Amino acid sequence: MKKTLLTIFSVLFVFTVGCSNSKEESEISSESSVSDTEDITSEPTEPEEIPDESSDTISESEPKDESGSPAGGTLIAYFSVTGITKDISERIASLTDADLYEIIPAESYSPEDLDWRNENSRVSIEREDLNARPEIASGKISLDSYSTVYIGYPIWRFDAPRIMSTFVESYDFDGKTVIPFCTSSSSPIGESGTNLEFVAQGGNWLEGGRIDSAITDDELQEWINNMK
Ligand SMILES: Cc1cc2nc3c(=O)[nH]c(=O)nc-3n(C[C@H](O)[C@H](O)[C@H](O)COP(=O)(O)O)c2cc1C
Repeated sequence: MKKTLLTIFSVLFVFTVGCSNSKEESEISSESSVSDTEDITSEPTEPEEIPDESSDTISESEPKDESGSPAGGTLIAYFSVTGITKDISERIASLTDADLYEIIPAESYSPEDLDWRNENSRVSIEREDLNARPEIASGKISLDSYSTVYIGYPIWRFDAPRIMSTFVESYDFDGKTVIPFCTSSSSPIGESGTNLEFVAQGGNWLEGGRIDSAITDDELQEWINNMK
């Protein structure tokens, strides 16, 4: 009798333990299969909303123009064929936290066009014609939010390229400080700035000056400080 009871208990014990293990196994495997499925097929979670920092940086008390943009900004408008004025313009923009605007000619200048030794070349013809106004391809920019406008160009035969006259004639600089600057092999800014002021609409034009292509950042910062 004792032996029979012992056998029944043993059978029951083995059966109970067996069931409980297979339940745990099935729970683990079903958990892992859910998480695997989630990794592969679940929808990507929405990226966290990035706070609009630009709206934080404009304080309510800052003066604004008619369009609501903060007034008092600086623009560097430049024309450059071989990249020297462009490079200086980008460096001024970085030092003054200014915006850049490139004056792009509708008809680009070929090496033959730029041959200033040839009196029949495009630049020579434009140089002789004070009324030449080469067309600008870059879209018009609103000057509303700028109170200071740097105007950069290469010296071409001791003067600003005529496309600079096209540019300054197209905008109203009233109430703005205008700072002409040039790059050149060696010629100073000369009369080129005042010639542009003459054809421009308004603006408080400073003398500006020539910036050497080899200028260091410290020297450039000093040059900018001297313009104030
Ligand atoms: C048509 C032409 C005329 C130039 N005339 C002069 C000049 O009168 N005096 C001078 O020092 N450099 C002169 N240069 C040299 C440019 O002013 C100088 O290389 C300038 O930095 C080029 O600027 P960019 O690379 O922005 O076009 C002339 C260059 C060209 C293409």
